[in-house]
Amino acid sequence: MKSYLITGGAGFIGSNFVKYILEKYPEIRILILDDLTYAGNLGTISENLNDPRLKFVKANITDNTAVRTIFEKDRIDYLINFAAESHVDRSIENPQLFLETNILGTQNLLETARKFWTAGKDENGRPVYHEGVKFLQVSTDEVYGSLGETGYFTENTPLSPRSPYSASKAAADFIVLAYAETYGMPVNITRCSNNYGPYHFPEKLIPLIIKNILEGEKLPVYGDGSNVRDWLFVEDHCKAIDMVIAGGKLGQVYNVGGHNEMKNIDIVKLTISTVRRLIEENSEYRSALKTDIENINENLITFVKDRPGHDLRYAIDPTKITDELGWIPETRFADGIVKTIRWYLENQDWVKDVTSGDYQKYYEQMYGNR
Ligand code: NAD
Ligand code: TYD
Repeated sequence: MKSYLITGGAGFIGSNFVKYILEKYPEIRILILDDLTYAGNLGTISENLNDPRLKFVKANITDNTAVRTIFEKDRIDYLINFAAESHVDRSIENPQLFLETNILGTQNLLETARKFWTAGKDENGRPVYHEGVKFLQVSTDEVYGSLGETGYFTENTPLSPRSPYSASKAAADFIVLAYAETYGMPVNITRCSNNYGPYHFPEKLIPLIIKNILEGEKLPVYGDGSNVRDWLFVEDHCKAIDMVIAGGKLGQVYNVGGHNEMKNIDIVKLTISTVRRLIEENSEYRSALKTDIENINENLITFVKDRPGHDLRYAIDPTKITDELGWIPETRFADGIVKTIRWYLENQDWVKDVTSGDYQKYYEQMYGNR
């Protein structure tokens, strides 16, 4: 029976991954380590907490004692590191926290895993690891920097991060690769494009827009809305990570993306029309609406001051993961966005729970004076 240590498992992608593998593998053990920052919520995994296959530990990935204790108590086969400070705008406000969690936290996990996974040395003095163990770092396409109007990121594109967030993720990638080279650690890195789907914290574009539409609030679009992101439904990302754990060649990086480039303004317009259509089609969704349905229109869009150093375009070339592991994205954007909006319409309690307290202060600070 395989045993997973999943850091950041109470966040957006981590929780979706936990649900995905619990469903897929009946014989499995999962230990979630999460510090429950503003972005991590026990409510997100409440339905899974009673599952005998799963344990939850509240701890910081930078806490050496906490991570070591986990390895002392449990055999871990796979460590999947989702835990991170993940929001570019917050990284512009407070870069240091991003370096602490994303870089030092990753190194702490690597170092602890290295110690517990080392089985001995080979005849050349190189470390030998326990059979089948693997460290998977969940990274991002943002480490490659910004594209112009054309071209794609491949795994060979030089890293050129431009925000404190992406710089911290790039540094983490380098330290993971350094552990592979220096100590022969069995690692993989996945670099995925923008995800969307259920349990996405409403500070990121798509869930923020859905929330504001339902409240009749303005929809803040940075700059002129022409920046392009390459959107992937979160379940397709989870599937890719599962495939890389099972079949990824050790030491390799895999790009994950669904060839679904869209301008921000088009995402916002599509979200407005889809929310309105779904509510018109199903009267049960009206309870999610805190404004008059007539207010759901493009007049809600407001162009605000651009993000400093705003990357123009991201676009992933996923040829390697498709050719080597057979991964393809299954959810078309047209279907994924409907699934996502339906989920938010049906899970307003979750939105309310995760957006109380600190989030309100943050929101005021970010958008209050634009
Ligand atoms: P998220 O912000 O929704 O969740 C992050 C989780 O990590 C939360 O549960 C939080 O409580 C936890 N966490 C944060 N700091 C911690 C710490 N110091 N110790 C322990 N736990 C901590 O993020 P997400 O969108 O789910 O992203 C998960 C990973 O995927 C991140 O590494 C991110 O860089 C990467 N990624 C995200 C996207 C995307 O579109 N969201 C795309 C590509 C890659
Ligand atoms: P975001 O969801 O923050 O992801 P990332 O910055 O990691 O790509 O933003 C996606 C795009 O949407 C990005 O180009 C910035 C833009 N954006 C807005 O225009 N308005 C907003 O309120 C937010 C949060 C993002």
